[in-house]
Amino acid sequence: MTTVPDKTFYLETFGCQMNAHDSEKVIGTLEREGYRRVESEEEASLILYNTCSVRDKAEQKVFHRLNDYKFMRKKGKRFAVLGCVAQQEGENIFSRAPYVSLVSGSASYRKLPEMLARLEAGEERITGLDDRQSEETFDTDATNRQNPYRGYITIIEGCDKFCTYCVVPFTRGKERSRSSSSVLDEARRIADQGYTEIQLLGQNVNSYLDPEEKKNFAELLAAVGQLQGIRRVRFMTSHPKDFTRDIVEAIDAYPTLCDQVHLPVQSGSARVLKAMAREYTPEWYLERIAWIKAARRKISISTDIIVGFPGETAEDFVQTMELLGQVEYDCVFSFKYSPRPNTPALALIDTLSEAETDKRLQVLLDRQREIQRINYSKHIGELMEVMVEGHNPVRAQISTRSSQNKTVNVTWSQPIAPAPGTYLQVRITAAHPNSLIGVVESSI
Ligand code: 5AD
Ligand code: SF4
Repeated sequence: MTTVPDKTFYLETFGCQMNAHDSEKVIGTLEREGYRRVESEEEASLILYNTCSVRDKAEQKVFHRLNDYKFMRKKGKRFAVLGCVAQQEGENIFSRAPYVSLVSGSASYRKLPEMLARLEAGEERITGLDDRQSEETFDTDATNRQNPYRGYITIIEGCDKFCTYCVVPFTRGKERSRSSSSVLDEARRIADQGYTEIQLLGQNVNSYLDPEEKKNFAELLAAVGQLQGIRRVRFMTSHPKDFTRDIVEAIDAYPTLCDQVHLPVQSGSARVLKAMAREYTPEWYLERIAWIKAARRKISISTDIIVGFPGETAEDFVQTMELLGQVEYDCVFSFKYSPRPNTPALALIDTLSEAETDKRLQVLLDRQREIQRINYSKHIGELMEVMVEGHNPVRAQISTRSSQNKTVNVTWSQPIAPAPGTYLQVRITAAHPNSLIGVVESSI
């Protein structure tokens, strides 16, 4: 008699929203194959890690996690490594972690059913890496959306920018835009499921170009923003080289487009930007910031900064700090430079000590905290529309988000909270550098 295989899986996601969304596709695909998701490695027969390799720390985390659980291999559990580390390392993963059975790039989730069948049939090592060249990459029938209030939609895959520090062009491949008809179909489908917030995803959404109808990014944004039932549209990530004024005009024209732009600058020094191959100068960047600041609605601006890029001098860093003061961001994601495989920056001479990089990072964090304290305190007294994301009964609060992407913790003493996705009007009563406090005036 043959035994029915135990089709349980545990999936953990590392890294960005692109990965979170890829995981939604993997979950949907596995469930269609009769697999059932469980909450811990202990309960699962198949353990999958969807990995990130943008910085070394993220990559090491996966190998540590694998190491922590490798004893489970003896209990017959299978390990699968998906995503960017899988794509980057390929079969090398088997030598670093010999108990892994499956290595697959995340766009290969369509091939997962076939690969899983081979695993079940007893194959020990399977590799499925991506070609990521076709529209099929965007195939979404099997998506099982995990976020209860935000529907992710990939509009463009890959990246052709080849910034000298970045591994993404090697892991996620060449840039390909999805047709706008397919994006709009998916947006309508998820609006029918009850989602009112959509986030358009891509490594560089600004270089989106509809392969069929030749819509550019701003036109796609406007089309999504006009769909029935959609109240909030966000997008990630922008690139200053390709950021156009019509994006700001679209935000001005359609209130459903959130008043938030994430525009990674990476450095305030022209010299460092050149060494990074970012294809713009601080002046070019600040011109785009001026467009955003001239919008009718106040648009919240956030950024990414790399500290300690090889050869970054004290003067280069001062220029980054000056730019920080000029833009007055609402949020900054700052990272210490991390050398990545295959990238041209590996060849640059890096003389900066770890201690000096740490010092600069701390200076930046302290200054930015001060900027945010001032920015956030300006909201006190304001009436704001927020969307509920979660409930914290212990603190008697619900966590919500504003159109500007600010966290607003709202006082809530009743035992039952409004469901995620509910809109409320709240009055802001206090401010911290990373969040606001509010009280409900009415639900909308
Ligand atoms: N080292 C540090 N930060 C990096 N990023 C990308 N590659 C690296 C690297 N090698 C940062 C950039 C990018 C963000 C997603 O991650 O700031 O915008
Ligand atoms: Fe990496 Fe640059 Fe592409 Fe962003 S634009 S994914 S930083 S190569």
